[in-house]
This record gives sequence, C-alpha cells and structure tokens, in this order.
Amino acid sequence: MRRKIAAGNWKMNKTLEEGKALTSEVMNMIEDEIRDDVKIVLCPPFIHLTTLQGLLKGKNQISLGAQNCSEHASGAYTGEISAPMLQSIGVEYVILGHSERREYYGESNELLAKKLNIALENNLTPIFCCGEPLQIREKDMQTEYVRKQIQASLFHLSQNDVARIVIAYEPIWAIGTGKTATTDQAQEMHATIRKQITEKYGQETANNISILYGGSVKPDNAKELFACMDVDGGLIGGASLKSRDFVDIAKSF
Ligand code: PGA
Repeated sequence: MRRKIAAGNWKMNKTLEEGKALTSEVMNMIEDEIRDDVKIVLCPPFIHLTTLQGLLKGKNQISLGAQNCSEHASGAYTGEISAPMLQSIGVEYVILGHSERREYYGESNELLAKKLNIALENNLTPIFCCGEPLQIREKDMQTEYVRKQIQASLFHLSQNDVARIVIAYEPIWAIGTGKTATTDQAQEMHATIRKQITEKYGQETANNISILYGGSVKPDNAKELFACMDVDGGLIGGASLKSRDFVDIAKSF
C-alpha cells in the first residue's frame, strides 16, 4: 500500500521564531485530528531544520524535508547544502525539481537526475516535482512534457531506487495562482505518470509509489483531490504557512 502524504513547502517564508510557532501548532493539532496512516512532512528553509528537528523529537508522524540539495557531496560550492549534511541532522525528505528551482535557477532534467542519485545514496526520500507550464497545457501537450521530465530524471534508476521516490505532479499554472487543476485533470495526469512507471518498472513498483498533487491545494479542495484514485496526497505551498489550513488539508484523506 502506498503512503498518504501531506507535505508543506514553506518556500522562503518564516523567521525562526515563526517557524517554531507554526511547527508547534501543527504538532499539537495533529495529536488527535490526523489519521495515523498519514505522513506529515514539513519542508522549512534549510537554516530552521536543526532547530525544528529538536522540537519534533519523538513525533514520528512528522518528518522534515529540505527544499533542495546540491548534486555534489562536498567541496568548493559556496552557498550550497549537500545531501550528506541533510542526512547528518536527521532530515528524511528532500524536494527536488520544484518548478521554481527549474525556472529561476535553471535546474534541468539532467541536473535533477544527479541530485536524485545523491539524495538516494544518502538515504533521503526525494519528492521529485514535475509539471507543465500554461503554454504547454494550452496546446494539450502536458502528457508528453511530463513524460519527458520523468524519463530524463528518473529512468536511469534501479527498480529498488525508484521505489524509494515520491513524485509530485504540480502544474505550474496552478502554483500560487489560486487556480487548482480539476479533479479530472489531476487524476488523468497522475494515472498517466503511474502508467509510465508501470511500463518501465512494472505494476507492483508503480502501485507503491506515492504521487502527490501540488498547486493551490486548500482546505476546501483537498478532499475531492485526495479522493482521486491516483492522488496520494499533496505538496502544499501557501496553505502550509497557516497551521489550521495545513492540518485541515491533512485531515482531508
Ligand atoms: P501552492 O504551492 O500551494 O502555493 O500553489 C505549491 C508548491 O509550489 O509546491
């Protein structure tokens, strides 16, 4: 059975004190509100990870994720953070290939293949993001576009390694815009992604991979999105910055 996941991508938001407050609120709320089989992943800015790790001690339902990592293990790469560093402080997940990284920092499918390798080597669970921009959706080419992203970044991996990945489908036109994909659009793309994984790695592997939807997930649309057969949770940006909204989304499974 694949895991249900609600992951919060804080992006470049929250000071340390604000981040601690948000984390404490989420911790307190999930105690009696969230099903035991739902995994919560908080992805704050790098510099908050160690402090929040201390706060979360003993709370196994909540894991920490980073928003990125370097494709290198160590060395002269000023300003970068490596996968071994993340592992050394107890981080379990890492978002890779978010559309903002692809767009503003020029991250290519090939670079992301390297980042996936190093994340997996260091026992991090990558949350691999894919998704098409508006112009591609308008031409109805989203399937080809996303298939190419997945093929170029994932298909060098062994079956064992691919089974350790979480995929997040995030149509770029829905990120931070308040415009959510319809349930039909989300389900169609998720099913397409799972089919592509099936073709390459077989049914069992594909059935066990969690595929999250991202793009303006809110408390009032999460239930219908998460009810789709191939949607296993969400990668949540804006709504993860408010504890009540984030926990309400996590309750929607
Ligand atoms: P959003 O962001 O929920 O604010 O649309 C999602 C994401 O970028 O992961």
